[in-house]
Amino acid sequence: MAQGGRDGFTSTFGALLATLGSAVGLGNIWKFPSLTGSNGGAGFLAVYLAATILVGLPVMIAETMLGRAARADAVTSFDRLAPKGQWWWKGIGWMGFAAALLIMAFYSEVAGWVYAYIFKSVTGEISTVDPKVAAVVFGKLVADPTSSLIWQWVVLGVTGVIIAFGVSKGIEAVARRLMPLLFVLLLVLCVRSLSLSGAWQGLAFLFNPDFAKITPAVVLTALGLAFFKLSLGMGTMLTYGSYFRDDQNIPATAARVMLADLSVSLLAGIAIFPAVFAFGFEPAAGPSLVFMTIPAVFTSMPGGVVFMTVFFVLTAIASVGAILSLLEVPVAILSQRYRMNRKLAALTTIAIIAVMGCPAALSQGAMANVKLFGFNPFDLFDFLSSNVLLPLGGILICLFVGWVVGLAGPERRLSVDGSLANRVTIRTVFFLIRYVAPVAIAIVLLNGLKLF
Ligand code: PFF
Repeated sequence: MAQGGRDGFTSTFGALLATLGSAVGLGNIWKFPSLTGSNGGAGFLAVYLAATILVGLPVMIAETMLGRAARADAVTSFDRLAPKGQWWWKGIGWMGFAAALLIMAFYSEVAGWVYAYIFKSVTGEISTVDPKVAAVVFGKLVADPTSSLIWQWVVLGVTGVIIAFGVSKGIEAVARRLMPLLFVLLLVLCVRSLSLSGAWQGLAFLFNPDFAKITPAVVLTALGLAFFKLSLGMGTMLTYGSYFRDDQNIPATAARVMLADLSVSLLAGIAIFPAVFAFGFEPAAGPSLVFMTIPAVFTSMPGGVVFMTVFFVLTAIASVGAILSLLEVPVAILSQRYRMNRKLAALTTIAIIAVMGCPAALSQGAMANVKLFGFNPFDLFDFLSSNVLLPLGGILICLFVGWVVGLAGPERRLSVDGSLANRVTIRTVFFLIRYVAPVAIAIVLLNGLKLF
């Protein structure tokens, strides 16, 4: 059923799956383990969990609710909901527009590595448990400008085809059916990884916190990851919320998505860290961690090549839901606010990303020495979006809902006109949105950026 004459999710379950499709992606398989590894392990995980539950979940509920109330793109929604004359709130939507482009510029590169690894699993090139060999193979891929760029363009090309042919619903339906298989494969990886000798060291790294390793920068990174993981602070959930039905139970949907997303990340962590220690990889290897350890675990088991290939294919498919949702922010703004044809809006956005993506793709090779504020372009795009724009967007969304919109509207909307018995939940969420989340994000942001 279209809502208010607009296109929308036709069922509440479909809306849940699309939201989950946005949240689950390379963030779980690649970013979560890489960041956990390079930020000291369990302490980082503890902060990340706290950030997800106390800040991420309430922001997700608030953001989705705003979209459903306004039924518009991320910029226009603020035009509709802000009091007359307070035009500046729509800056949140424009920040989201910028964040979507920045994220896509490096996300498409990581997706490109995944595509490349599908082929490398088949040829046997990555069938090794030797950290040195694995590092050489990954290093060669990312340092070579031609393959880095080509794989990124393949990802953008595939995305363009999905959009131009309007098959995204079909792809998402396929993705949805295959995701349980990815879950099973992660479980298989966990079992194998846990049975390696020395596995307990990896478990201790992941679950036994050393709070001395938690610095303000680590806390900011964990908060940034919480936003990135649940696609928050940049209008994605707002735009998806604008397609929700009026009777969708938003708090329950958000809680389910958060729990499912956390489970996938934890499974990825349990699959990776025991193997890291068992095979002698470096937990702080950063973005390359997953691309070296996952093949090692598969290599150490019978039928590994087949499982490994399937794993990378499924990871590539999982990234589609996230990529489509990232594109939805600029595409909805261009097509709904500026009445651009939807396909043209999508292709224009992809073309901009292809240009912005070049420096990100060349960061480990041809442009390795180009540094801005000490970051190469890939890391700069990641830092600016995850650690600056998303938390900042999060604060502004909290201030807008907590102090401008007020409690009455959200109370009515989140309880679906009183038909859901969730008053205590709503009041708790509102308290977090009004007082806890904005203050916590502000302190973490100022501290993490050394401004305070
Ligand atoms: N949540 C996605 C992931 O973890 O892979 C990434 C993402 C998608 C971030 C959509 C932001 C966004 F708007």
